[in-house]
Amino acid sequence: MKAAITTTAKYLPESILSNHDLELLFETNDEWIRTRTGISERRILKDKDKATSYMCGEVARQLLEKRQIGADEIDLIIIATMTPDMLFPSTACLVQSIIGASKAWAFDLNAACSGFIFALNTASRFIECGVHKKIMVIGADKMSSVIDYTDRSTAILFGDGAGGVILEPAKDESYGILDSRMYSDGENGKHHLLMTGGGSLNPASHETVDKRMHYIYQDGRQVFKSAVISMAEVAAEIMSRNNLTAEDVDYLVPHQANQRIINATAERMGIDEAKVVSNVARYGNTTAGTIPICLAELDEQQKLHTGSNLVLVSFGAGYTWGGIYIKWQ
Ligand code: UT7
Repeated sequence: MKAAITTTAKYLPESILSNHDLELLFETNDEWIRTRTGISERRILKDKDKATSYMCGEVARQLLEKRQIGADEIDLIIIATMTPDMLFPSTACLVQSIIGASKAWAFDLNAACSGFIFALNTASRFIECGVHKKIMVIGADKMSSVIDYTDRSTAILFGDGAGGVILEPAKDESYGILDSRMYSDGENGKHHLLMTGGGSLNPASHETVDKRMHYIYQDGRQVFKSAVISMAEVAAEIMSRNNLTAEDVDYLVPHQANQRIINATAERMGIDEAKVVSNVARYGNTTAGTIPICLAELDEQQKLHTGSNLVLVSFGAGYTWGGIYIKWQ
């Protein structure tokens, strides 16, 4: 049995943080940001009392409404996030409570920017072996909660947002998630993209706050190099394993970190621009949110048809990266 996405939804906060707004915070300019990253603006969840679970709850409600099912039909909720509301309980349990999915079990999965594809891959196994019939997989991050708005090289990149899907048994074996390749490289990843404070190694203290350890640290140049290589490689691997030519691929749905990384991946696959999904200009990098937000937008624009071939690829902290091939049901 294969697992197919039957429903998509997204939530982006209303408040916009533009490149011009950032010009007021530190030494930068709109042109530099657009040329180096492709980003013009991002969304920020401004309310102090709202966090990742709020965005997930908005997505979850839409998913149930679109699919016309009750929350008690959901078997499992997986939330991919690196910005949970709190260390515990999991954000997935909070979302279960928001929608009242009383029969589900729920857990978070943290693979940073690759969180959604890791979670989608994980969820698909529960469908494939017949254990579950309806799984909610949501990728969401409130990146503004971990961004140092004095660090110009990192602050320009990220925004807040959430997207999600319902995964169900495909109508036959030729549809749904047909292949996936997942990778991690902790040896290299642990140095270049991390947040050192707030965990069991460096619990919150005056010192960790003074040293700004509760913010993301990124060596942008190093991460950029690894991201370009890994995303292009895994995209090419997915194509070759499934005998897909550039013509066969209807959409490349890449993680939205930087337009230059997206372009390099598309170039390696040999596919033209029209097939490359990009909204990085409008939302920046929403971490685990990027890919499901892209899927929801494709769906809203009625661009997904039975038999459409999609290649999803991602790269993020860990390092973690991977690719998924979906034949749309
Ligand atoms: O999703 C998870 C993975 N994350 C990523 O994929 C992000 C990967 N990295 C990147 O996207 C890019 O490395 C950045 C956008 C972060 C930086 O772009 P870059 O082309 O790699 O620039 P750079 O770090 O090599 O910096 C070039 C120059 C530096 O000045 P000097 O040393 O050459 O004088 C920076 O200080 O640009 C300077 N700079 C800025 N200038 C204006 C860095 N940030 C800014 C800024 N505005 N915001």
